[in-house]
Amino acid sequence: MIYQIYPRSFRDLNGDGIGDLAGITSELGHLAELGVDAVWLSPFYRSPQRDAGYDVSDYCDVDPLFGTLADFDAMMIRTQELGLRVIVDLVPNHCSDQHAAFQAALAAAPNSAERSMFIFRDGRGESGDLPPNNWESHFGGPAWTRTTDADGQPGQWYLHLFDSSQPDFDWDNPAVHAEFERVLRFWLDRGIAGFRVDVAHALVKAPGLPDWHGLANGNSSEGYPGEEAPMFGQPALHDIYRSWRLILAEYGPDRILCAEANVDPLPRLAHWVRPDEMHQAFNFPYLHAGLDLGPLRSVITESLESLDAVGAPSTWVLSNHDVVRHATRFGYDGHGPRDGDGIGTEDPQPDEELGRTRAAAATMFMLGLPGGAYLYQGEELGLPDGIDIPSALRQDPTFARTDGERLGRDGCRVPLPWRADQEHYGFGDGATPWLPQPESFARLSRDLQASSGTSHLALYRSMLALRRELDLGRGSLQWAEAWCTGSSLAYLNGNVLVVMNLNHEPLELPSGAILLRSSLDVQGNQRLLSPGQTAWLQIAAKPAE
Ligand code: BGC
Repeated sequence: MIYQIYPRSFRDLNGDGIGDLAGITSELGHLAELGVDAVWLSPFYRSPQRDAGYDVSDYCDVDPLFGTLADFDAMMIRTQELGLRVIVDLVPNHCSDQHAAFQAALAAAPNSAERSMFIFRDGRGESGDLPPNNWESHFGGPAWTRTTDADGQPGQWYLHLFDSSQPDFDWDNPAVHAEFERVLRFWLDRGIAGFRVDVAHALVKAPGLPDWHGLANGNSSEGYPGEEAPMFGQPALHDIYRSWRLILAEYGPDRILCAEANVDPLPRLAHWVRPDEMHQAFNFPYLHAGLDLGPLRSVITESLESLDAVGAPSTWVLSNHDVVRHATRFGYDGHGPRDGDGIGTEDPQPDEELGRTRAAAATMFMLGLPGGAYLYQGEELGLPDGIDIPSALRQDPTFARTDGERLGRDGCRVPLPWRADQEHYGFGDGATPWLPQPESFARLSRDLQASSGTSHLALYRSMLALRRELDLGRGSLQWAEAWCTGSSLAYLNGNVLVVMNLNHEPLELPSGAILLRSSLDVQGNQRLLSPGQTAWLQIAAKPAE
């Protein structure tokens, strides 16, 4: 079980309103207590922070905002004491426009070695004033920006699948491969356990950079990159990951690569985790299935079939720093907000209690599944998204690039509440946190939940302890048809029956010891599973079909 730390929002020890590495070190004990095996840190590298650190200007240094390399090493020592492993984020598709290599490319002539690290092209049209193709940025607007030459004349264009401050590397160039091999080794030498690879499906682009007549940002109408999109999922990607796997293997058999490969359908995702490629790939189709039981069941079946075929575990996930937190998504009847769009005060509002109840049920359903699982910081507290964020404070480039039409991802990135009676709920005792914390954080802070036997946090601790004790991650799945009714879904993992009830009526549980239920505060008949809840039961024999 891997826990995602979003450093900007975890814990601010130096009082500047932004989280830091020393803050992480100071609170790691809580994560060990929670029962996580490893932590994954979102980027803390040198960066102008135009995309919250996913715009890296130096891959081998810590941004002063977060501390120093010595702080990183101190954090590593603490994780070792606690028996936690550390995975770091690698951002190989693009860097920051302030990266020395891109600055050198801007200063150099067209077709120079410096420019060939990136994707520079002449524009279309007589005077080259049209972008080289029709691709769009994932954050809105065109995926190309025109440069200005030293003499002040308009120059070539460069490609950026994300913000204009995030130029894409050209992975057809061996020098780019060599640079990233250096980066991999730099962090492996510092003792990390592996990498989460950012937009792993985007590094290689189709030859000739052809126009794309699907959604021009590469997505399909369902939101996933279209199978034929020229900017995603190109076959040559796989050789890159094979070569990285060999590098990791030099450091021991237990280093891992996890792909953020937002591709569909699932058999295609399985290509990322073939035996000589990455070890894991986030299962985003699972995240998107939400609580729609039909699609949820199909995604799980298909995931296990596709991934079993290549001998890889599935990697379940419900929240991260790019999507509305699941405690908020599940507070809507029907469909909540679209990925990356966020919720504002003008939008239909979620029902917080309903969301939190269903989030507990959904997490419990997920943590019973065989495979790996990722949790996102704060979900163990049942935190909702921040909704009341003034426009002036919104920092996700999506907000600016769409003129506020898409609010972006700030809502799920709000700094954590640690201690109810401290300033900024214990996130830091200095400057105001970089994003405002909702008032509900007073009730949801970690210290209050830690002292309650029935809190969301108490449930997470119990789930993680039981999952480990019963070794559910290494188990298998068989659907328990008798409890798959259309409004409930159930499976067996070994002799553990996992039942989720989304009906409006309570569900009578089968015989067997109730190991855990997603509401720890059960009144009345213990054998009834209330609406919006999940239970784990130990059963003696396979239940009747
Ligand atoms: C990361 C995002 C980031 C984007 C560009 C992603 O998928 O998770 O937070 O904005 O890559 O690096």
